[in-house]
Amino acid sequence: MSNNDRGSWSSRFGFVVAAAGSAIGLGNIWKFPYITYENDGGAFVLVYLLCIVAIGIPIMTAEMLIGRKTQKNAVGAFKELGGNKWKIVGGLGVVTGFVLLSYYSVIAGWTLEYFFKSVSGSFNGLSEQEVGNQFGTFVTNPFKQVFWHGLFMSLTVFVIMGGVAKGIERVTKILMPVLLGIFVILLIQSLQTGGAGKALTFLFRPNFSELTFDSVLEAVGHSFFTLSLGMGTIITYGSYMRKGDSLPKSALIVSGLDTCIAMVACMVIYPIIFSFDLVPTKSAGILFTTLPVIFVKMPGGTFFAPLFFALVAFAALTSTISLLEVVVSYFVDEFKWERKKATAGTGFLIFMLGILSALSNGAHQGLSNLNIIGKTSTVGFFNTFDYLVSNWMLPIGGLLIAVFVGWILQSSVKEEEFHDGEQTFFKYNHWNFLLRFVSPVAVAIIIIAVIFGREFQ
Ligand code: PHE
Repeated sequence: MSNNDRGSWSSRFGFVVAAAGSAIGLGNIWKFPYITYENDGGAFVLVYLLCIVAIGIPIMTAEMLIGRKTQKNAVGAFKELGGNKWKIVGGLGVVTGFVLLSYYSVIAGWTLEYFFKSVSGSFNGLSEQEVGNQFGTFVTNPFKQVFWHGLFMSLTVFVIMGGVAKGIERVTKILMPVLLGIFVILLIQSLQTGGAGKALTFLFRPNFSELTFDSVLEAVGHSFFTLSLGMGTIITYGSYMRKGDSLPKSALIVSGLDTCIAMVACMVIYPIIFSFDLVPTKSAGILFTTLPVIFVKMPGGTFFAPLFFALVAFAALTSTISLLEVVVSYFVDEFKWERKKATAGTGFLIFMLGILSALSNGAHQGLSNLNIIGKTSTVGFFNTFDYLVSNWMLPIGGLLIAVFVGWILQSSVKEEEFHDGEQTFFKYNHWNFLLRFVSPVAVAIIIIAVIFGREFQ
């Protein structure tokens, strides 16, 4: 199969928009605000930013490089550059994508339910307690959980069937600007609530006495998750990139946008919470239990609530399609499956696997199980999958990618790809240094710490 049959982005910006769409997702809007809240802001944010610069950007550039150089899926790319031994890293990525998508799509489905709930005004007049109970009833309703998860997977399959330029690129090019627009409206609205000062202080005043080793670990893990790194997503999207498009520039733009959106998400959510003096007891539920209450009290809330949940759903969709594409491109490239067949088949299997996660919320304690997504708990499929993916599979994948590109791949190949296209202040030597010495060492320390942390618990 020639490269033309695989598809490619139709324009220079196609890649950047699609990669930004992949990066910006539930990780930014749902996960980052709540883990930052749990970790007391300031110092945690600073560590997270450091991780983006020292680990995230170098590994993202490395993934783009592998993809664009080989124009292949994650497995094929590693096989071409590193032989059968390294092919396993790509394989690990495909498996990770499969598992990650299965539970990600469950939460993504929640945003659809909450969109329709807020459109029909079903939060009107409810107290915080009642909204919380409603959430509890919802996550324990097996029919609804499977239904919304199935619907979200179907949407994802539908986009991926359209192919690279006509499916992924077309949809993300429409959704991303809409998303940015909605965010600006919400930001303006939220800054008027009077809690902006408190929110800014919380986010940017570092209090190092609050910083624990665990929060550092969480920041590293999250930098992989939020930038879609460690499982070949960026390799796959990079494989549809054209020669002449700058790798360092694209990596800087994508990570910059992703980081801005995470910060803006906090600046949308925190001022509302602070100005209403609401201290979320279960912080993982901020999005689904606290915000609806606030939207009801807020002027124009009936308009902003659906807008907000639509935004989260869009952001999630541009991420789920990138997860499915990793799996689909593997079957299309390596087994010469027809795209539609590969998409329908793998999409269905992922849906089936996700049912385990969709139902695991109900099998336990309902509302008190809001912590289901908490990294330390490993009860239920949902937790176990997220724990395995976030703490193990993504960091290990990222470490291996850094080692491969940093130490194994020939310098001539690296230099040629890096220098193809516009150059920035982020030079080859900076990148190579970070990739060889900083990223792998930092990640290895984290992995070792996780292993010891577990033993000593
Ligand atoms: N980056 C996405 C988010 O923040 C999640 C994701 C992880 C997508 C890995 C693809 C690959 O929501």
